[in-house]
Amino acid sequence: MIGDRELLREACAARIHAYAPYSHHLVGAALLGRSGKIYRGANVENSVNGLSICAERVAVAKAVSEGEREFVKLAVVCGDTGFCRPCGACRQVLFEFAPQIQVVMGNTRGEFEVKSLAELLPAAFDGSSFKRSAS
Ligand code: THU
Repeated sequence: MIGDRELLREACAARIHAYAPYSHHLVGAALLGRSGKIYRGANVENSVNGLSICAERVAVAKAVSEGEREFVKLAVVCGDTGFCRPCGACRQVLFEFAPQIQVVMGNTRGEFEVKSLAELLPAAFDGSSFKRSAS
């Protein structure tokens, strides 16, 4: 299986294609599917407020729309210092498909730390009450 450092490199490669003329905050993500396939994502902004999409969610949408729904690991990178943190919305979207996923949070210098999504999004909303009331 691909290592954390290598997945982070994939996220750096994805970041090159970020479209962020408004925030100038370039983000890259690489999502490892159970199949072994890697899905890259970059943030895509829009002049209309609220229509921008995060790198992580681009990667998830690419994977799911290609038939993959089980994920092992996600790497995310933005700046050259500190560790890039996925936003709350992206954490919830990851939780939908992969509550057990490991998240590699890094920077373009290759430094990173790894946390589980359970650590990043404790006591998550899992839709169980919603699904019960709908039946
Ligand atoms: N962004 C991401 O791509 N991922 C995150 O987890 C947080 C924020 C993007 C969205 C926007 O294009 C820019 O970073 C500034 O918020």
